[in-house]
Formats: sequence, C-alpha cells, structure tokens
Amino acid sequence: MGTSNYFSIKCDEKTKGTELDYLQIKGGKKLHGTVTISGAKNAALPVIAATILSDKEVTLTNLPNVVDIRTLLHLLTMLGGSVQHEGTTAKINNTTINSTKAVYEIVSQMRASILVLGPLLARFGECEVSLPGGCAIGQRPIDLHLKALEALGAKIEIKGGYVRAEAPNGLIGAKIIFDKITVGGTENIVMAAALAKGVTTITNAAKEPEIVQLCEMIRDAGVQIEGIGSSELIIHGTAGKPLSFKTTEIIPDRIEAGTYLCAGAITHSPITLEKVNPEHIRTSIDKLESMGCSFDINNDTITIYPAETLKPVNLITTEYPGFPTDMQAQFMAVATMADGDSLIEERLFENRFMHVGELNRLGADIWLKGSVAAVHPVEGLNGADVMATDLRASSALVLAALVAKGTTNIHRIYHLDRGYDDLEGKLSGLGADIIRLKEGE
Ligand code: UD1
Repeated sequence: MGTSNYFSIKCDEKTKGTELDYLQIKGGKKLHGTVTISGAKNAALPVIAATILSDKEVTLTNLPNVVDIRTLLHLLTMLGGSVQHEGTTAKINNTTINSTKAVYEIVSQMRASILVLGPLLARFGECEVSLPGGCAIGQRPIDLHLKALEALGAKIEIKGGYVRAEAPNGLIGAKIIFDKITVGGTENIVMAAALAKGVTTITNAAKEPEIVQLCEMIRDAGVQIEGIGSSELIIHGTAGKPLSFKTTEIIPDRIEAGTYLCAGAITHSPITLEKVNPEHIRTSIDKLESMGCSFDINNDTITIYPAETLKPVNLITTEYPGFPTDMQAQFMAVATMADGDSLIEERLFENRFMHVGELNRLGADIWLKGSVAAVHPVEGLNGADVMATDLRASSALVLAALVAKGTTNIHRIYHLDRGYDDLEGKLSGLGADIIRLKEGE
C-alpha cells in the first residue's frame, strides 16, 4: 500500500491549514487578459467514484486542483485503492479495495462522497456509507438515491448514522422513475445499473453535462447506454463484470467559466476564457447578453466584452439546460451593479441565499421574500470584512469585492478551496489585487 500512504501524506499537506486562510481584495482594478478554465469538479467527482466499477488501473486527466477532488481520492485510498496523483492527472487502481466502509470523517467533509454508494454496492454486493447530513444551502436528503437502489434489489438499513446497503446476489435492472430530478441520484444509479443484471430504465434523469460525461465514460467501457443527454436513460448492465475504462479527460468547469464571465461583467473588463465549452454555459451567456454584455465565441474560447451600463436581470434557477443554481450567487453580485431592479428566484435549494447578508454588508441593497431575492441598484459597494458561507456564495463575495471601494477581507475561504482551482492566482493574472493571508498573522 506504499502508493496510498504516499498519496495521503501529500493530500494532508496540501489541505492542512487552509481553514485559517482569508482573501484580501482591493477593489476597483480593471481586469484584462486570458484565463484558462480547469476541469469540472462536479464532473470529476462521479468519474472518480466510477473507477470503483473497474478492476484495472484507470487514468483521469484534466482534474482540477481543488480540495474536493483530493478528498474523494483520499477516500479511495482509505478503502484500499491506490492513487498516484500528480498535477492534473490521477492513476487510480481499485483492484486492491479491501474495505467498503466510507467513514463519517470523510463523508462529512464533502457530501459528494455519497457517490461511492452506487459503485461500491454494485461491485462488492455490500457497503456502508456515512449519511452526509444537511449543509449550509439546505437539507439535501438522499432519499431518492436510496429508493432507486432498493428498486434495483438492494436491502438498505440506516443505523448509527450510516447507510448499510446489501445486494449479495447482485443488483437487478429495474424501471426507476425519479420523483424529482437529482444530479447525484442519477449518477449513483447510472453507476449501480452499469454492473446490474439486465436493463435499467431511469425516467426523469438529470441531463447535466457532468452526467453525459459519466455515461460516455461507462459506455466507452462497453456498457450499452441509450438516451445519453436525455431525461430517459436505458442501461444494459454487465451482471457483475467489472469495467475496463479508457483514459478519461474531465470536461471544462462550466461554473468556473461562468464565474469568470461574471468577473468580466461586474468589473467592465474584456476577458478571454480558454479551454471552455460554450454550449455548456449558454444560459449564463444569454443572461449576460440581456444585461448588455457581448461575446466572441469560438470552439473552446469565449471573450466577453462588457456592457457600458449593466441592465437588470430576472432569473429562475432550474435543472440543466435551465439556469444553474450554482451560478445564482455570482449573478446576484453582478446584479448589484445594474441600473435597475433585478429579481432572482432560487428553486432548487431552500437556503441558498446565505450570501445576501454578506453582500449587503458590502453595501448592496437586496431584499429576500421566500425563495425570491429583489436586488435594488446601489451607487457602489464598499469594502468590509465578510464571511464565505458555501462554495458559490464565496465566489459571489469575491466578485463583489473586485468592484467594492477599498479593502474587502473574505474569511473562511476553505469553501472556495473546495471548488475553485487557484482562484487568486487566476484573478491576479487578470490584474486583480488579491492576496491570500493567514488569520491572526
Ligand atoms: C449537484 C451538484 C451541485 C448542484 C446541484 C444542482 C455535484 C457534486 N453537486 O448536487 O453543485 O448545485 O447538483 O444542480 O455535482 N433531492 C432530494 N432527494 C434526494 C436527492 C436530491 O430531495 O435524494 C433534492 C435536493 O435537496 C435538491 C434537488 O433535489 O433540492 C436537487 O438536488 P441534486 O440534483 O441531487 O443535487 P446534488 O447532486 O446534491
């Protein structure tokens, strides 16, 4: 197990101490230049979990350098897998897995660890995964994941804070209808169904590009999957035979890309994004166009040309291809600088407005009623001490700080480190005045 020990030491070193970091941003700088978009965290997580379905070494490339990825790789090593992780590439070998228990210490750090439930159960016939619990943006239950696994024949028990799942004779294909569209639920069931006996049909499946990538990876390993990219997936399982994956390159991060477009919009700066998939961020582009920005779009590059005056925006978050909830907070930051009232409705997560109070600390004028936020225009924002509350809320504070007068200190940025690859390096490269400091120093 030399490799896994080596990995876990490196992993701990990389993440240690970031809880005490904060970002200091001096606002008012114009940005310019080019930024390269990293691989998508939310695509990489299910792809990493899917490697459990394989009994051969799998190579993944274009992984983002973010804490969530290291956490999931670390979980694999705790299960007995071996991981060589250098830069943006990981070679994962899960032939040596000798435990099927995903412990609380890891799952509590990152909800997406629940993605190991489907593949562990499918490959080993039993597993125990800690319940992820709620999080800042809402309750986030996993009832739909569990109900669908039961439909595939699993026996599930919740005891001592763990989900214990068993299917000693393997999973059996079934017809699954999700009551609600769930990204993680669809991913878990696609992975479980890949090794099930017979055909599984998933109706009301999520269609996010991250799900398309997962399905294509599994299809390229020889599993017949119909309907990829649609809301009905038909998966012909291998009856327990492990998969052999090709090298998989993680797709570009559409949320990171959208965040940099918002940085261009709010600071009135032209910015070019490289290694991006314009199709995946169509709704963000459309909304920014409606706010007065214009774009030059090519195969995998986008340049945003800012609006002279930002117009207000109305948006409602929904499942892909609708407007993503993961871009809601960033658009709210941009809307604070518009020349009229904007309305933003959050339909996916009941508590995803934690950034409102913090944006108002910077001088924004945002009012909340239920799931709708009304953003009134203000003359300008002023630097202050603010606190990051969740991943995307944190990036909204960074965007606001880029235009706030004076200095903004953003505390608790470990949220940002979970999902943004080198945010301060990339923004500095574009000309922002941003540094990472340690609390109390
Ligand atoms: C994923 C993304 C997250 C994004 C979200 C919605 C990852 C790692 N995370 O999260 O960034 O914001 O999709 O696009 O990819 N629900 C239930 N029961 C369940 C499962 C979900 O009620 O068993 C509800 C959730 O509480 C939520 C809605 O369904 O209200 C959508 O959640 P889901 O699509 O499952 O989100 P995640 O996969 O957790």
